[in-house]
Amino acid sequence: TSDRAYDTADVLVVGSGIAGCAAALAAAREGADVLLVTKAERPDDASTDWAQGGISTTRGDPESLKEDIIAASDGTADPEAVDVLVENADDAVEDVLIDTLGIEFDEAGRSDDGDAAFDYAREAAHSEERILHVDASTGSHILRPFLHYVDDRERIEVRQDTAALELITHEGRVHGIVSDEEPEGHPIYAGATILATGGIGALYGRSTNPDDATGDGIAMAALAGADVADLEYVQFHPTAYAGDDPFLLSEALRGEGAVLRNGEDERFMPDYHPDAELASRDVVARAVATEREATGEVVLDVSPLEFETDFPDLAQKCRERGLEGDEIPVAPCEHFCCGGIDVDDRGRTSLDQLYAVGECARSGVHGANRLASTSLLEGLVWGLRAGEDAAAADVAPDVVDAPDLLNRDPDLPERFAAEKFTRLKQTMDEYLGLERDPDEIARASAVLRRLKGEVDAYIRTRTSRDLYELRNASVVALLIARAASENPESKGCHYVVDGAAEPTAEPPADD
Ligand code: SIN
Repeated sequence: TSDRAYDTADVLVVGSGIAGCAAALAAAREGADVLLVTKAERPDDASTDWAQGGISTTRGDPESLKEDIIAASDGTADPEAVDVLVENADDAVEDVLIDTLGIEFDEAGRSDDGDAAFDYAREAAHSEERILHVDASTGSHILRPFLHYVDDRERIEVRQDTAALELITHEGRVHGIVSDEEPEGHPIYAGATILATGGIGALYGRSTNPDDATGDGIAMAALAGADVADLEYVQFHPTAYAGDDPFLLSEALRGEGAVLRNGEDERFMPDYHPDAELASRDVVARAVATEREATGEVVLDVSPLEFETDFPDLAQKCRERGLEGDEIPVAPCEHFCCGGIDVDDRGRTSLDQLYAVGECARSGVHGANRLASTSLLEGLVWGLRAGEDAAAADVAPDVVDAPDLLNRDPDLPERFAAEKFTRLKQTMDEYLGLERDPDEIARASAVLRRLKGEVDAYIRTRTSRDLYELRNASVVALLIARAASENPESKGCHYVVDGAAEPTAEPPADD
């Protein structure tokens, strides 16, 4: 490190969604000095801010939520991880969201003694109404006060517009990150590093995530040698607006009675699953794709519910797009990465002093398919547990050699990165979407390997945030392709069609 400037923190958190805020809060409550860095410049650069439906509680029946989570995952969720989630869910929601942040979830009325009777919602594959929400923009109603609260704590420094580029590792331990603060990268040393960098939506052409979701934490951790798992399970939401610039049409709409109709005006979901529109997300997403192909379009018919009154935010979004009437054209859209950095019940990864929480982590809760409204909950519960564990371990930061990142020409790579990103998205859309064919996965792997080679060659001489995001996206894309190629079994979000791909599809041109 010689005379390079650097910072230190007891606990370093990377990412400013619900998981990162929860980790920072818990670590500070344990007495640690926390530095939270985030590449976000605004709250809505984080996926949490985009979350609609809500956050699940157990309503005092953890077993029932556990059963639904495991059923939605097609039996693949880890029961012990699910126990951790359901046993901590209600306390975490009450302590942090209601008592500490004062979030006013929608109410159905007041009980005789004046207590709130929440307006618990239901979503697909939930056996009962148990989801707390604020309209259909729950995420932003949670995240904005959470960010304010965290930023106000004396023990927590929040640094926005600051991207983590590399992890600092030494003899099997993670010592922090190199951020993009200085031209050659700025080391931040920490006793413990908690990755809360979110998902991978930017790898696909259509996603419900913000553009910032480039898989940074997963890529950095994997490059440092951390174990990753379940990356073939990329979840597509069944009902995003089908036009340009897609937006989510929350599952809560179907929970309240909205139905799906095909281009022949037929309600088709009862033919696919006994739970019809409330079947699990993977089942509905594939049915919507099939019906779109067969009949030209699928619409979400919101006429059975009070759309304007009960979902004013979504009604407004529809108006902004010029969508009138009760039928909204929908298509599946990348939504959530069920896999990620493999972690235990406290968010500990396979590398010493590295934690991962939220969407970048694979806790085992989601298995092959995540149940609606469990992502905010997982981020909250695992964020709190990891923050607490990292602070309690009380490991001092250690200033070791950090990678030097050359930055000879920060302006040049922009076009290169944009072009390669387009190629990457086309490859993921075409070959690693809702249905996967083994031959196509192999083609995707070949294209992605070449692309990553080009990015690696470039990144050694010219360093910028864009290029690192592209590097991260290409690392994660390859990991997804590898995981998909190694798993021949159709489960949840990983649906393997039987080697029957039309041999016409050429891999996207390489440049
Ligand atoms: C939705 O509102 O449909 C999304 C909820 C989730 O992804 O958990």
